[in-house]
Amino acid sequence: MEQTKIGVIGCGVISGIYLKNCQLFENLEIVACADLIKERAEKRASEFGIPQACSVDEVLANEEIRLVINLTLPQTHTSVDLQILSANKNVYSEKPLALNKKDAKRVLDLAAEKRLRVGCAPDTFLGAGIQTCRKILDEGWIGEPVSAAAFMMNHGHESWHPDPEFYYKSGGGPLFDMGPYYLTALINLLGPVKRVSGMTKISFPQRTITSEAKYGSAIDVEVPTFTAGTLGFENGVIGTLTTTFDVWAHKMPFIEIYGSAGTLRVPDPNTFGGTPSIKRAGHDDWAEVPLLYSFVENSRGVGISDMADAIQGDKPFRAWGELAFHVLDIMESIHLSAQTGHHLELDSHCQKPAPMPLNQSFQEKTWKI
Ligand SMILES: NC(=O)c1ccc[n+]([C@@H]2O[C@H](COP(=O)([O-])OP(=O)(O)OC[C@H]3O[C@@H](n4cnc5c(N)ncnc54)[C@H](O)[C@@H]3O)[C@@H](O)[C@H]2O)c1
Repeated sequence: MEQTKIGVIGCGVISGIYLKNCQLFENLEIVACADLIKERAEKRASEFGIPQACSVDEVLANEEIRLVINLTLPQTHTSVDLQILSANKNVYSEKPLALNKKDAKRVLDLAAEKRLRVGCAPDTFLGAGIQTCRKILDEGWIGEPVSAAAFMMNHGHESWHPDPEFYYKSGGGPLFDMGPYYLTALINLLGPVKRVSGMTKISFPQRTITSEAKYGSAIDVEVPTFTAGTLGFENGVIGTLTTTFDVWAHKMPFIEIYGSAGTLRVPDPNTFGGTPSIKRAGHDDWAEVPLLYSFVENSRGVGISDMADAIQGDKPFRAWGELAFHVLDIMESIHLSAQTGHHLELDSHCQKPAPMPLNQSFQEKTWKI
């Protein structure tokens, strides 16, 4: 198997799991990592045995590198993606794809012009939890989907992230930060969205950092921290998505999908595993559904492995730029709808990504509900 040589730009908190996991995929080889703060790149390189800790320019000038993973902040995703593409390398970006559709389009247009690929996080929807839910829906276990409800509610990231400011600036907030997990999962399960509406607010204009080493510093909140969106899917399903950093506790589901013949409870779309369960019309109890696919543990990187396969084999892949663009369109439109007070029709569209292959060891006949 030919290995795709990879560079990483951005060696902050999330880089650890990427650098660890990418070594587990046989078709990936990380050869260099870079960060504006050189010590961070050096620390990650020594932790994970990466051959070279270097500058961004050196990553971009390295001719053997074919794909670069952009793990910088939302505010720099576009500029770094454009640099990577300009250096004739494929790019896989952390979410969100960009701060707005205009910037994202610049990235996708440059990639198309240069015949390069753009991939984007999240890839959690390729995990066993969401893939099993996709099979349940595709096989009609709950009949025709009628509606869906999704909730991402917590009290923000300033209690644990060492540099949490970006979560409260453009490109952050609960919708742009966590919405991609929920919306990508929903699109994978139900298909594309055609119109949205939204209401949003900032409940607390200032947040106080309680993580070390910035304990006690204030952050001015610049983006909504409570968003309620309505999603009109192309297949007629009406969905609701609540995201917030303003809530201390709740007992709502991550995602539920309500069908003509039952209800599906979807596990946390910010994880790869979980326990899907269904309650079908006429049944007294909920039934837990066994996971039928691989990638149960934190497998961040599976989307990159899938992308590298696609580059080598000149075929489509799943966590691709058009999907991330559609997610961004939905998020931006929810914010815009809240400002204008109107429903908004989306001008982007994407197909459901292909399902992952079933786990070979799974015996389908053992799954009885
Ligand atoms: N932290 C998490 O749990 C988490 C989870 C999933 C996704 N993400 C996403 O991953 C991205 C990074 O998050 P993080 O938590 O690792 O942030 P972080 O602040 O810990 O790390 C970002 C790193 O990027 C570097 N950087 C910024 N601009 C750069 C540039 N132009 N060139 C080179 N390096 C640059 C910074 O110096 C920093 O080390 C964000 O988009 C975030 O939404 C984070």
